[in-house]
Amino acid sequence: MHSNLPLRHHFSLRSLNTFGIDACAGTYLRVESTAQLRAALADPALAALPRLVLGGGSNLLLTGDFPGLVLHIALQGREVLDGDALHHHVRAAAGENWHQFVQWSLAQGVPGLENLSLIPGTVGAAPIQNIGAYGAETKDFFHSLTAYDPASGELVVMDAAACRFAYRDSVFKQEAGRGLIIMDVTFALPRAWRPNLRYAELAQAVAEQGMAQASAQQVADTVIAVRRRKLPDPAEIGNAGSFFKNPVVSGGQCAQLLARFPALVHHKQADGSEKLAAGWLIDQCGWKGRSLGAAGVYEKQALVLVNRGGATGADVQRLAQAIQDDVEARFGVWLEPEPVFV
Ligand code: EPU
Repeated sequence: MHSNLPLRHHFSLRSLNTFGIDACAGTYLRVESTAQLRAALADPALAALPRLVLGGGSNLLLTGDFPGLVLHIALQGREVLDGDALHHHVRAAAGENWHQFVQWSLAQGVPGLENLSLIPGTVGAAPIQNIGAYGAETKDFFHSLTAYDPASGELVVMDAAACRFAYRDSVFKQEAGRGLIIMDVTFALPRAWRPNLRYAELAQAVAEQGMAQASAQQVADTVIAVRRRKLPDPAEIGNAGSFFKNPVVSGGQCAQLLARFPALVHHKQADGSEKLAAGWLIDQCGWKGRSLGAAGVYEKQALVLVNRGGATGADVQRLAQAIQDDVEARFGVWLEPEPVFV
C-alpha cells in the first residue's frame, strides 16, 4: 500500500518551519486528502513510527532531526455555511493558510476574525495553540472541528468544551488530545458585528487614522500594520512569534514585584491573578537585540527569538535557557516557552 504514497526520506524541513531550522524528517508525507492520511496510518510500518503532525511550522522548535514520520497537513478548502440566526459559520480545511483564510472570510462579507490577521501558520494549528492577538482568541469564534483519531481510525467532531481552550493552550497540547489530527475547523462569527478595540494599542492606532467607524477590513489593515512594525516577517528572518507565554502570577506576587519595579507591565485577569508582559521582563534583563551564537533576541520585541542565520535548535534552546535563568534570578518568575519543542 505504502508504495502508492508519495513518501520522501531524509527530507529537509528547513522551508517548513518558520524558524528556518535545518533539520530532517526520517520519512515525510505531504497529506492532501483524508484517504492519504488513512492509507498512511493503515500501513503498520508507518503507523509504528514516532509521528509529528506539521501545519505551517510556525509554533515549532526543531531541536534536531526527527527520525520518525512527519505528516505535513496540506488539506485545502473553505466555505461559508448556512449558520444560525445569530452567527455566520465558516469552515476551512486544516492546511489552509490562516491569514489568507481571514482575508477571504472578510471578502465574503463575514467579519469577525480581523484582529487575528497576519498570524503565521495554518487553520488547523489555530485551535491547538488557541492563537490570539489584539484582544481576540480562537476560542471566541470557535464552533467545532473535525479530527482524525489514529487510535480508532474514526473522524470525531469536537466542540469548544471538548477542546479545553486556555491561554495559548488546548487539549491538543495535552496527553488526552496529543494524537488527534485536526482536519477542518468551523468558526461561528456573530452577524451583529462590532469592531473589537479593547486592546489599547489597536484602539490608538485606529484612532490615529481618524476612523470613527472602522470597517472590519480597516481593523484588519491596522492590525497588519501594527504587527509589521513590531514583529519580524518569518520570510525574512526566522522566528516563531512570541517565544514565551506571558506568565500569570498571583495578585500578591504582582504587588510585591510592583513595590520593587513600579514600571512592571501587568494586566489583571478575571480571577484576580495578574498576567505580566514577558517582553518587558526580558527587556529589563538587557536581552533585547542581543545574541548567543546564531540565535538572537529581536531588536523591536524582546519576546521574539530569531534565527540570525544557520541557527540550530540547540542554539535557540541555549538562548532561551539563558533568558529564563536571568528573568527568574531577577524577578522570581519562570517563563514557559510557547512553541512546541520536537
Ligand atoms: N514590552 C517591552 N519590551 C519589549 C516587548 C514588550 O517593554 O521588548 C512591553 C510593551 O511595551 C507592552 C507589553 O510589554 O507594554 C506587552 O507587549 P505587546 O503589546 O507587544 O504584547 P506581548 O505581550 O509582547 C502578546 C502576544 C502576541 C500578540 C500581542 C498582541 C503572548 C505570548 N504574546 O504579546 O502574540 O500578538 O500580545 O496581542 O501572549 C504570539 O503568541 O506568537 C504572539 C505574537
